[in-house]
Amino acid sequence: MEKGVKGKFITFEGAEGSGKSTQAQMVCKYLESLNKPVQHIREPGGVKISESIRRILLNVNNTRMTDECETLLYMAARGQLVGEVILPELKKGTIVLSDRYLDSTIVYQGYGNGVDVSTIETIGAFATKGLMPDFTFIFDIDAEKGLSRTGRTKDRIELRSLNYHKKVRKGYLELAKAYPERIVLIEVDKSKEEIFEIVREHINKILGL
Ligand SMILES: Nc1ncnc2c1ncn2[C@@H]1O[C@H](COP(=O)(O)OP(=O)(O)O)[C@@H](O)[C@H]1O
Ligand SMILES: [Mg+2]
Repeated sequence: MEKGVKGKFITFEGAEGSGKSTQAQMVCKYLESLNKPVQHIREPGGVKISESIRRILLNVNNTRMTDECETLLYMAARGQLVGEVILPELKKGTIVLSDRYLDSTIVYQGYGNGVDVSTIETIGAFATKGLMPDFTFIFDIDAEKGLSRTGRTKDRIELRSLNYHKKVRKGYLELAKAYPERIVLIEVDKSKEEIFEIVREHINKILGL
């Protein structure tokens, strides 16, 4: 990990429609209300170059994309975002909230597509200069229920089979078990507000509020 990082890096993970963006937005508003320096970004994307890569990744016409190309494009988008925004902001002391990060590639390309997970970790460490989140929320929802909450026009990844999305969910559960000190798993069986109360308790603890 790079030296001189003063802020906190918190990531929001989970299947499609699990409520990542909803909770990240609520956390962002909460921290803004306390006058904390906070920035909310999304992956893939967040900066111009990475948003261009996002369009390639999610374009439903790119049916011929190989697993290797897909994995490397996610990493390229992430590398740009880390270098251009996340690391500079963390060095300034900002609390950076990211909708998805490296865990998503491990789960979607690794567990979902069968790309070797240790290879993903190796290229992930290169792309991110070794930057890992201080804390990660994983929102756990039944794959079918989550998908039914996404919009009507599905992107290239959302269009994949239910079986694929079940593998993604299983991957997230395994990650949560493997890294209990970094990851908290939250069941999405309550209202947004009730889930936010749980999320806020963790945020307060992480930030010493
Ligand atoms: N706890 C919840 N209960 C019911 N609906 C929710 C809950 N959290 C989020 N939603 C709704 O589900 C949809 C997907 O949520 P979103 O935050 O966009 O998920 P993600 O970013 O994980 O894909 C949105 O319409 C959102 O308002
Ligand atoms: Mg979202």
